[in-house]
Amino acid sequence: MSASNRITALTPSDIRARKGGTPPLVTLTAYTTPMAQMMDDHVDIVLVGDSVGMVLHGLPDTLGVTMEMMCLHGAAVRRGLKKPLLVIDMPFGSYEESPPQQAFRNAARIMRETGADAVKLEGGGVTMADTIAFLTSRSIPPVMAHIGLTPPQAINTLGGYKVQGRGGEDRARVMADARAVEQAGAFSVVLEKTPPEGLSDEITQALTIPTIGIGASATCDGQVLVVDDMLGGLFTAFKPKFVKRFGTLGVDGEDAIKAYAAEVRARTFPPAPEHVFADEVPAK
Ligand code: KIV
Repeated sequence: MSASNRITALTPSDIRARKGGTPPLVTLTAYTTPMAQMMDDHVDIVLVGDSVGMVLHGLPDTLGVTMEMMCLHGAAVRRGLKKPLLVIDMPFGSYEESPPQQAFRNAARIMRETGADAVKLEGGGVTMADTIAFLTSRSIPPVMAHIGLTPPQAINTLGGYKVQGRGGEDRARVMADARAVEQAGAFSVVLEKTPPEGLSDEITQALTIPTIGIGASATCDGQVLVVDDMLGGLFTAFKPKFVKRFGTLGVDGEDAIKAYAAEVRARTFPPAPEHVFADEVPAK
């Protein structure tokens, strides 16, 4: 789908205008059309996160996620959405080169092939500021930033999946990142795993763009969760402390599969006549 076919009701400017607003911005990840359809009436922003690599493809981390995966899942989600803003993650290695022409080329490809409304870049705000400024000065694509814990970078430079911005220098680094991405023109910023007292709250107060928290603070301008986590037990590799399970789909799904297997083995499914086709065409 081309960017001109976009049918989204909410735009990046609408999201930006919700700074400090009530109610907070509701954000969820999605990777497939049916999941997108399920959330279309209920959320403000849908994110096709690079978490897709771990959640749907069984990868050990997000380093192996490719542009092809993001475009494929992005286009699938686009087909299921009418109202929320659609944001797509740029995968690791697709935007970090300097000078940032690589970032523009790949962001443009994501927009063109998926019809996304915006892209998200993970990584140190100060180091990514030039790239964000380069992209936003070309007016599309609008950029959502992501600071604090940023998974690909976490593995290589942030010392694993630990809380970011605790104490002295680390706190100053995350605050500087927040200011840098705002200055560079991002329309919103995800704060991941930054402590609420002080840091997340302070960033939310200091910035004029909305903050969207994940394991951050209730005072952020919005919240985001990985949908398979909040549906309950669909993603089982690990459960971050900040995840609240709002459903039990993992257990329900496994129970349904067990019941199906038992009925097939016992020859009680399919039970004629409603689950099989008769030889004769029924009279009208
Ligand atoms: O990739 C992802 O799903 C994300 C969210 C955790 C914010 O970046």
